[in-house]
Amino acid sequence: MQMSSDRANLSNIRELAKTHRSGFALPREFYTSAAVFEHDIKSFWNRNWIWVGHVSQLPEPGNFFRFDYGTESIIIVRDRQEQIHAHINVCRHRGSRVCLEATGKTSVLSCPYHAWTYDLDGTLRTEREMDDQFRRADYSLFSASLKIFQGLIFVCLSENPPDLEPALARLAPLTSPFGIERLKVAHQASYPVPANWKLALENYLECYHCAPAHKEYSRSHSLKDPASMTEELLTDLAENSCRAGLPGAVLNETGPDAESLGSDIYYRRYPLYPGYKTGSRSGEPVAPLLGDLSGYDGGATDIMIGPLNSFLAYADHIVGYRFVPGTLQETDIQIVWMVRDDAVEGRDYTLADLTWLWDVTSQDDERIIRYNQQGVNSVAFRPGPLSNMEWGIETFYHGYLQQILR
Ligand code: FES
Ligand SMILES: [Fe+2]
Repeated sequence: MQMSSDRANLSNIRELAKTHRSGFALPREFYTSAAVFEHDIKSFWNRNWIWVGHVSQLPEPGNFFRFDYGTESIIIVRDRQEQIHAHINVCRHRGSRVCLEATGKTSVLSCPYHAWTYDLDGTLRTEREMDDQFRRADYSLFSASLKIFQGLIFVCLSENPPDLEPALARLAPLTSPFGIERLKVAHQASYPVPANWKLALENYLECYHCAPAHKEYSRSHSLKDPASMTEELLTDLAENSCRAGLPGAVLNETGPDAESLGSDIYYRRYPLYPGYKTGSRSGEPVAPLLGDLSGYDGGATDIMIGPLNSFLAYADHIVGYRFVPGTLQETDIQIVWMVRDDAVEGRDYTLADLTWLWDVTSQDDERIIRYNQQGVNSVAFRPGPLSNMEWGIETFYHGYLQQILR
């Protein structure tokens, strides 16, 4: 019964996808249909790598944090042997969530329902009143795939996740000057928006809206207007990058074929306007220089790892972005600010200065994404043509449609 209704949904979604016109926004149902949303979780989120945090959030054995999306919940925990695990937060008895806290430190993972208790490595340690046939070893917590790249933790629910290794090997020398493995999370914030996750992600993937919607960001970031990225600015950036110890390269790889879907990597440096050393209110640094950098080059670096995970690296801090689906039209925009791990709050940085830009910008984004969803919900909505500045959305659609329909 369940199978046939899934198949009916899938064939409807296939038909729907065929109505997408290249160079245009997606049809309305991609943002309004419960069947599409369910399929998004199963066939896109569960199949792709998701950036969930940084190793510095798990400094000691027993430290854990939870990451939730859609119907899924994952516990990321460091065990007594210092190994990091990603357990699926579903009890092997009758399925209760095991871990209820967002973050903390514990010696075991104990289910709140009937108290089955798991070791930090996921093996079942104690249970009550089971018969003699019960084999404890058969009931470890299920695990998600886990990958750590320069301290960034990624998980994937698929047993056969996209192969990121070749692309990460090319990305590694470009990102290593930032010393990402030596960062700490200074602050995280959530901006819940009543919109489908794709509208939130698409908004991040284009800077067509930056000039009209983000006046603070647009004062400093030349990405808002390609014509303002003059030869002079680009030449200055290349010279200053070289002096600061950063490569000026562009690396843009999206999965061109079915085998490499979900292995998208993007790295691009672009200039901030003169007077801006970093993404801050005054243009002055807001934290100590990262990694091995020897100076401020006046650039910003866009990094994407897989189709769902974006980062913006400045010389003194890195901001991570996730657009996490809750329900069909409830998305959590999660922003994570990271600084050098030896930086001390109050002495080397203040949260007010560090978070100012992407707090105001994310509040703007929440508003425009909300209005976008309201308009898309109308029967009058027809997908309109994308501008030249929205190529990132086009690339996303390509991979998304191929992945959900394969
Ligand atoms: S559901 Fe977890 S112990 Fe029963
Ligand atoms: Fe924006």
